[in-house]
Amino acid sequence: MKFFRKKESPIKSEDAQSDSRRSFLQKLGLGGVLVSLAGFSFQSVRSLIPNVLYEAPQKFKIGFPSSLSDGMTFLEERRIYVFKEGRSFYAISGECTHLGCTVKYTKLNQPKHVEVNGQKKEIPFEFHCPCHGSKFYSDGTNYAGPAPQPLHWFKMEVSPDDGQLIVHMEEEVDQNFRLTV
Ligand code: FES
Repeated sequence: MKFFRKKESPIKSEDAQSDSRRSFLQKLGLGGVLVSLAGFSFQSVRSLIPNVLYEAPQKFKIGFPSSLSDGMTFLEERRIYVFKEGRSFYAISGECTHLGCTVKYTKLNQPKHVEVNGQKKEIPFEFHCPCHGSKFYSDGTNYAGPAPQPLHWFKMEVSPDDGQLIVHMEEEVDQNFRLTV
């Protein structure tokens, strides 16, 4: 007895090919939809997270009054010059008021005597800006170069919790400010 292999109809074979093509395209479409949904979900979740710029706090402790040596201490990370004169403290910003470079503390060989706003002052040191040559007296007053205003002075206080010194960068004070401990 002979078996003959039944010949596949060409029509059926074309149907099968078209089915598989259809299924491939359906999968491709489904994949696209899933990718779009994933992107949309990510964007939705991301939109719930605020774009916050984390800045260093503007009020911070710098140690106990006795831990600072007499004269100038430069707080490099904050760009602040803190001065201790016996029991008095004050803080001057090291940020140039022109375009924000860090000014350099410059000791003078001999103190200068100047008049600032009608007041006679002895100037033992100055702040010089390396970027465009602005110069400031020891009290922060700008007197040369493009800096449009004096260096800022910040309020200081003693922490009621532990007695450490606090600098308030968020609160400017005038050049006569002294914290006495
Ligand atoms: S940034 Fe200081 S003089 Fe320009």
